[in-house]
Amino acid sequence: MKSKILITREVFQEVLDYLQPYFEISANQEDAPFDAPTLARRLADRDGVMTALTDRVDSALLDHCPKLKAVCNIAVGYNNIAVAACTAHGVMATNTPGVLDNSTADFTWALILATARRLTEAEAYLRNGEWKGWHLKQLLGVDVYRATLGIFGMGRIGQAVARRAEGFEMTVLYNSRTPLSDVIEQHCGAAYATKNEILEKADIITLNLPYSAETHHFIGAKELAKMKPTAILINVARGGVIDDQALVDALSSGLILGAGLDVFENEPRFHSAFLKLKNVVLAPHIASSTRATRLAMAMTAARNLAAALTTGNPPNLLNPEVKG
Ligand code: GLV
Repeated sequence: MKSKILITREVFQEVLDYLQPYFEISANQEDAPFDAPTLARRLADRDGVMTALTDRVDSALLDHCPKLKAVCNIAVGYNNIAVAACTAHGVMATNTPGVLDNSTADFTWALILATARRLTEAEAYLRNGEWKGWHLKQLLGVDVYRATLGIFGMGRIGQAVARRAEGFEMTVLYNSRTPLSDVIEQHCGAAYATKNEILEKADIITLNLPYSAETHHFIGAKELAKMKPTAILINVARGGVIDDQALVDALSSGLILGAGLDVFENEPRFHSAFLKLKNVVLAPHIASSTRATRLAMAMTAARNLAAALTTGNPPNLLNPEVKG
């Protein structure tokens, strides 16, 4: 008898075609996110699940899923999954590292350039019919070339952001839990610096670090006060890494120049004051969203699930202590 799986959000047909021979699939191709009771009900008789970052997998849910052996997240970040609780329930948990680094780094740069050069504000100005003609001091931005870039979180995505800075002749500083080897630092053209050094020296700061209890409000009022008044802040990591109220205050008072945000606290809701601010570029959590990358992410999760339920050894296992 085939194992039974649930896919909690819409996926590409290629993913269903790949999984079909292995599993009896229940797929949510209508794509309405499940609330917690619905997810618990839909998972009650399932052996495995492909989750999205909009699903919360915690101990309370796992208590309702006696047959569950694998939770395969379609994301590199897995703050929506309580991995320790999975381990305690004997459930394998996986993520999708490696396949979204370049798309996410590209989008980090899209936000850097759009924020520094006020692109969305300029477009709104033009679309609203406010443009009456060229003038010298119109929509002045700040230069990206030869600026100092500060990167918090120097995993694969942070490194890909750093490598792209070479063409802009930037000085690149980074901070992460573990400093890189000399060879990788050289490859990225980046030098290690403390958190304070980056806050004080960088013209552009990007957040490329995972969200956890340790990185909750990694940037708050105290950190924003240390940044240059001409600095811009970019977040493609997770909402919660920034204290959004503190950022709204800093952007409103001119404490920093601008921000580019792809993620927010309490998504899909977000602080309504952002909508009124001209010096923030906003995107709806799409940094990895190219067709090729989102397909690669979903296929990686599907391969993890197939391996978890057939060999017990999925490639991207987060809790190897529960190998099946
Ligand atoms: C997207 O945000 C991811 O973590 O993959």
